[in-house]
Amino acid sequence: SAARTFFVGGNYKMNGTLDSTKKLIDILKSAQLDPKAEVVVAPPALHLLLTKELLSGSKIGVSAQNAYHKASGAFTGEISVTQLKDAGIPWVILGHSERRTLFGEKDDDVAEKTKAGLEQGLSVILCVGETLAEREKNESINVVVRQLDAVAKQISDWSKIVVAYEPVWAIGTGKVATAEQAQEVHAAIRKWANDKLGSQAGEALRIIYGGSVAAKNCKELASQPDISGFLVGGASLKPEFVDIVNARL
Ligand code: G3P
Repeated sequence: SAARTFFVGGNYKMNGTLDSTKKLIDILKSAQLDPKAEVVVAPPALHLLLTKELLSGSKIGVSAQNAYHKASGAFTGEISVTQLKDAGIPWVILGHSERRTLFGEKDDDVAEKTKAGLEQGLSVILCVGETLAEREKNESINVVVRQLDAVAKQISDWSKIVVAYEPVWAIGTGKVATAEQAQEVHAAIRKWANDKLGSQAGEALRIIYGGSVAAKNCKELASQPDISGFLVGGASLKPEFVDIVNARL
């Protein structure tokens, strides 16, 4: 696990103004961040270019929260992977549970987007995770494997993908998965990756946890062997995000 660079993403979701985003970025730029951690922030699309500009010269990366797989055309309201590439945005979050549950994205849609993003040279934070009902039926691992298999049907090189395990019941609920619950699913994803991609790519794959990550729970989660970082929602909008980036210090 020491060989995998610790990764912390801040998913701002549909929050913030130009002014509040600038303030957040200022806090991050002046903070003492673990030099060994890779940090990426994902503001709303409208704030991406400002954020990129504010972060120029810093090591913090920028990510979109979603993108469409077609390069251009009559898709009102969408932003394409090609446009992200053109604008110099190197990362995109795909398959977030809010996209899946509120906006109807299916496993195959997420797979198609992932393929298109990689074709443009983007790096992808690929989100997977089960609902509460699925966990109660003991289907957590089946669900994430199904979601990953859909992507693996379309792409073979996973070197630019970070997998985010985000159990839906833990997102925005304050109900964090225990370190044991998270590690169990991360280990299953690791096994899936080793079987499917070979042990070299499988061991190199970064699997990060998302769902009510906070300063008070990040250290225990970060000490698990298959947890290589976090995707943070609510707490990424607060100065507390710095403590989460520094979870391994
Ligand atoms: O993508 C991160 C996210 O879904 C987790 O949100 O607010 O529970 O940290 P939150």
